[in-house]
Amino acid sequence: MFKWAWHKKDDAKKEISSPDGHIKCSFILKNGQIFYAVTKDDRTITRPSALGFLVCGEEPLGKNLSLVRSQTRKHTETIEMLWGEDQYINNNYNELAVYLAESTPTRRIFTLRFRVFDSGVAFRYEIPPQPKFQRITIADELTQFNVDLNTTAWKIPAYQPDRYEYNYEKCMVYDLKHSVHTPLTLRTPTGYYLSIHEAALYNYGSATIKLEDDVLKTDITPLSDGTKAHVALPFQTPWRVIMIANSAIELTTNRMIYALNDPPASDFSWVKTLKFIGIWWAMFVGEWTWAPGERHGATTAHAKEYIDAAVRLGITGLLIEGWNEGWEGDWLENGINNKFTIATPDFDLEEVARYARRHDIEIVGHHETVGFVDNYENQLESAYDYYVRNHINYIKTGYAGSMMTINGRKEYHHSQLGVNHYQKTIELAAKMHICLDIHEPIKGTGIERTWPNLLSREGARGQEYEGGALSPSHACFLPYTRLLAGGMDYTNGILDIANSVKRIATTVSRQLAYFVTIYSGMAMAADRPFIYEHRFKDLFQFIHDVPTNFEKTIPLAGEIGEYFVVARKSRDNENWYIGGVTDETPRRILVNLDFLGDGYYYAEIYADSKDAHFRENPFGYEITRRRVTKNDTLDMYMAPGGGFAIRLSR
Ligand code: NOJ
Ligand code: CA
Repeated sequence: MFKWAWHKKDDAKKEISSPDGHIKCSFILKNGQIFYAVTKDDRTITRPSALGFLVCGEEPLGKNLSLVRSQTRKHTETIEMLWGEDQYINNNYNELAVYLAESTPTRRIFTLRFRVFDSGVAFRYEIPPQPKFQRITIADELTQFNVDLNTTAWKIPAYQPDRYEYNYEKCMVYDLKHSVHTPLTLRTPTGYYLSIHEAALYNYGSATIKLEDDVLKTDITPLSDGTKAHVALPFQTPWRVIMIANSAIELTTNRMIYALNDPPASDFSWVKTLKFIGIWWAMFVGEWTWAPGERHGATTAHAKEYIDAAVRLGITGLLIEGWNEGWEGDWLENGINNKFTIATPDFDLEEVARYARRHDIEIVGHHETVGFVDNYENQLESAYDYYVRNHINYIKTGYAGSMMTINGRKEYHHSQLGVNHYQKTIELAAKMHICLDIHEPIKGTGIERTWPNLLSREGARGQEYEGGALSPSHACFLPYTRLLAGGMDYTNGILDIANSVKRIATTVSRQLAYFVTIYSGMAMAADRPFIYEHRFKDLFQFIHDVPTNFEKTIPLAGEIGEYFVVARKSRDNENWYIGGVTDETPRRILVNLDFLGDGYYYAEIYADSKDAHFRENPFGYEITRRRVTKNDTLDMYMAPGGGFAIRLSR
């Protein structure tokens, strides 16, 4: 099939294509070493890129190899997601499994498995147990992504105190100075949009990417002992993923990471997405405090008031932060003593939970660990049990420290030990029918397919950074970067924009748009309820109406860091929702409604007024209503730092 001139008789090349034939991935064995290369429409995506490992106390794994056999397979499947942005995801790929063995006396064996989708390439290493090879310590994973140095990258730095909570920056790959997190979004000089990421991250350090000797290389997050991971065989690495798209907006609906994860681990039909308000933003604007005292937020009385407000607003959940012992003084320093089963004296958890149940409101519990994992794990079962006994089935967790403390040592959140801790919470929560929203999480790698009780995570700079540290472009980066790793709790819907303590750099219409542009299985309407009930009742209507579970997502327009417009169809009915956001540049977007079904829809349009501006006039908005059909095009204006939200109902 292919011609390849080789000098050694053991050299080999195997190639597979995507089902539509556009993407090709080759496995190359040359002089006993292994490489892969990827093309789309015969243009280079990655040049031959090295594979393999350094293993502590052993010879490197990836040299002196010979090909034992290889096998190809075609897979065609539509998978159904319990909740999310798309109900059905195609899992169609061609697979190549390459079985390798060392030709040296060690005779170690392993398998490389490649899957080529129409939307990208994935591969992983699978290492079976062998007589003299049972437990290994990985010193380094050598996987390269040999893209052109003139590729553009959008990145956040790795190994920083605020974890993933940084502004995205654009640079050229040749200029990458430090390790960066994945998903790492790239644009090749030939115009393809790529995202290097990983899927199914379990029991291993998270992959960051660095430029080494002019090649992008995997840099697995180290443990405090300097190694990358201790694993028992059999072991398989996460999938190394290269998403490939022809345009920036096409990239935003790449669902490979879900396809590469296993189906649900058990019956998760009990999981329900949720919209919630919270005893939360009042703390950020200084009205209330997390810690007990005169202005304590989480009191029994406040909780009941908020429950009443949630009922009036038609919102089904209420988050309560600052309810437990541990917030006094400098909570970031003192968090080592946090108690997750002891409420503050002015908060009667049993009473609040009873009151919530009587009013059909789901309480979202809160565990702020400050990264003190040892302290949290000691209490994990009893803390979850305490909530479940009180019919609290949603928990927001948080890991606000700059490092985790695990086994008495400082570890990165995204190290193997961090990954294993998060997984422990997810699995225990699943067993106890608890849904999680993890702040300061490990990044998403599609495991929500297997563990759908993990309804949301933060894992990027969210609206808590408003008040100076968020620019209007930030939310225009997210759909092309962080959100390729799954939904995010961005804490949308803050309408008290001109608050002097925490000034928000958006218009009010844009806050509604976020409920569509930033998907979250647990979606917070983050402002205080009185803001929704009185001042912005008209805008709140959209927050009330927008669903948290969609059947279908269609990206309509956008460029990385500049703007993004997306349409999503509800799973419950025929209604569609459209959200649009722009950076500091005002824009007119023509939204073609040709994705609608036949007949009339009633459009409710929440948009920036012509004189709106995120700084000068954030409250400039207009609500218009009209009948539309799929033959219509809406002419939408977005003010600087603005956006729009549209509901199309039958
Ligand atoms: C950081 C979280 O992102 C935020 O939502 C939470 O309120 C604080 N930590 C306190 O737990
Ligand atoms: Ca945070």
